[in-house]
Amino acid sequence: MNVAVIHGPNLRALGRREPEVYGAATLDDINDALFGLAQELGVELETFQSNAEGAILDFVEDAADRVDGFLINPGALTHTSVALRDALLGAGLPFVEVHLSNTHAREDFRHRSYLADVAVGVVFGFGPQSYLLGLRGLVGALGASD
Ligand code: DQA
Repeated sequence: MNVAVIHGPNLRALGRREPEVYGAATLDDINDALFGLAQELGVELETFQSNAEGAILDFVEDAADRVDGFLINPGALTHTSVALRDALLGAGLPFVEVHLSNTHAREDFRHRSYLADVAVGVVFGFGPQSYLLGLRGLVGALGASD
């Protein structure tokens, strides 16, 4: 089983960026934890981060040929990007949406997701654990559809 993890805009700044909202963990810390869990679950992972929407769209399209699903923290694109929704629908693969923060406890504009209704599931508010819970959920869903 192969999973691609996508980190959207501004997530490479984790650890420095609004630590009171997003915590102290860096993106490397999160990726390391994900690789550890993937090994435990017997899953092959690749990770990708970009601040550029187009680069993420290209990645989704290209990776669709080699992975079974996506784990994605779309960052602010969650609340703005019909193009990302279309790319994920076009890839035709299951994906799980994750967020570090509880987006529903924040500004109104963060309550809307352009992806959530077409995701397998959404995990938010657990800090880096959101990613790990999301990976477990995605792998379970992929296993169930084998
Ligand atoms: C985020 C929440 C988004 O609203 C925000 O734009 C981010 C991070 C999160 O992980 O909590 O960049 O996706």
